[in-house]
Amino acid sequence: MPVDAHILVLGAGVTGLTSAMLLAEAGYEVTIIAAHVPGDSSIEYTSPWAGAHWRTHASSEEPMLCDWDIQTYEYWSALLDTENKDLQLHRSGIKMYESYDYWDGPVTEDLWWAPYVRNFRHVSESQEPLISISKRTPPRAPQIANAVACRAMAINVPQYLLYLLEQSRSLGVKLIKARLPVGRGLKAALLAAESTVTVNGRRLPDCYVNATGLGARKLCGDEALYPIRGQTVLVKGEANAITTRIGEGHRTYCIPRPGSNSTILGGTREDGEWSETPDPKTTSQILERCSAMVPELLTGRDGGFEVISVQCGLRPGRNGGPRMEKEDVDGTKVVHAYGHAGAGYQNSVGSARLVRRLVDESLTPTFGTARL
Ligand SMILES: Cc1cc2nc3c(=O)[nH]c(=O)nc-3n(C[C@H](O)[C@H](O)[C@H](O)COP(=O)(O)OP(=O)(O)OC[C@H]3O[C@@H](n4cnc5c(N)ncnc54)[C@H](O)[C@@H]3O)c2cc1C
Ligand SMILES: *[C@@H]1O[C@H](CO)[C@@H](O)[C@H](O)[C@H]1NC(C)=O
Ligand SMILES: *[C@@H]1O[C@H](CO)[C@@H](O)[C@H](O)[C@H]1NC(C)=O
Repeated sequence: MPVDAHILVLGAGVTGLTSAMLLAEAGYEVTIIAAHVPGDSSIEYTSPWAGAHWRTHASSEEPMLCDWDIQTYEYWSALLDTENKDLQLHRSGIKMYESYDYWDGPVTEDLWWAPYVRNFRHVSESQEPLISISKRTPPRAPQIANAVACRAMAINVPQYLLYLLEQSRSLGVKLIKARLPVGRGLKAALLAAESTVTVNGRRLPDCYVNATGLGARKLCGDEALYPIRGQTVLVKGEANAITTRIGEGHRTYCIPRPGSNSTILGGTREDGEWSETPDPKTTSQILERCSAMVPELLTGRDGGFEVISVQCGLRPGRNGGPRMEKEDVDGTKVVHAYGHAGAGYQNSVGSARLVRRLVDESLTPTFGTARL
């Protein structure tokens, strides 16, 4: 690894921050430039809007994505073991829960991940929590036909983003809040990035990491990128478990937000939808679908949820999956890392390790095609 190199990461979402942290751990000098940083709230910044939980969407035909999700699961498990042993440590905002997946019909995906997660099991209708859910389900409403459970993580996303930034800073990473010009071509964006780092007292970068999420579409027009809008409702109280329910035309989830006494209820997947305004009809559907699954959160005076806020986020969808590759743009070395759709958190560690490898390769001199 060429240690004496300076890497400029564009973007401070979960993808950029995790990449920056692992690059700094490997000994690189790292600077981040981002228009939005942990603590900010904007429809252009996806990471704070996520649930989020570890719940793979990868199919067994996507080995790279499967591998990323498992690497992240193992990394977070080890992180939790470390945190549990030392209560003085800065908390990441991640916590392990029971995680239930329900299908109102047949199981619609292959459960390749079963051997990789802790305590995977099938749950029958004569077991809890199915007995209780069934009792609370109104007559004629769909019943759960299949269920599995395991141990999985939920992430307090605002806290985790701040944690990643803190960890990165402690490794010498510098964060500069600035917006690079969009629509004037890559060269203009790179020139702006260069002058921004130098006025902030850092040397010119040897390699760029492009972790701009959905912003990559505007930055120079990757037409394969598109928004997958998700609407969520934040309610009071921490659910006892993580729940995902896949029914006719919907995927509903309840994700406790560790340590904040609140839970994210969702959700929707609306392809090509850019609007940040929530739909009130969707809100009532989400609340109705969740009420049978998390009765511990029905603490409102009317017997319903205590709603804190309703919001939408735009997942960075990309035809063909995330773009992870190195490119030489007229002598400028770039590693692309964007388009993680609805899986940016569970992908993050595996994706960041690939970024580190691609950066290593970009900076390793090659000697033509000669075999050494
Ligand atoms: C409702 C919802 C639920 C979700 N649930 C989950 C879940 O349970 N599990 C999971 O793994 N994932 C989940 N996701 C997906 C996850 O949130 C995304 O995959 C992830 O946040 C993408 O992160 P990113 O770092 O690639 O992009 P972003 O977080 O969007 O970060 C992009 C960064 O690039 C910067 N940038 C862009 N353009 C420019 C520019 N021109 N100049 C300077 N900076 C720029 C931005 O300011 C920002 O810092 C969910 C998403 C939503 C919306
Ligand atoms: C990041 O990727 C987008 C999409 O391909 C591109 O338009 C943009 O120029 C890239 N930015 C950098 C700095 O490489
Ligand atoms: C968490 O929120 C619930 C619901 O509003 C409330 O009843 C409970 O007292 C809160 N617990 C803590 C520890 O704040």
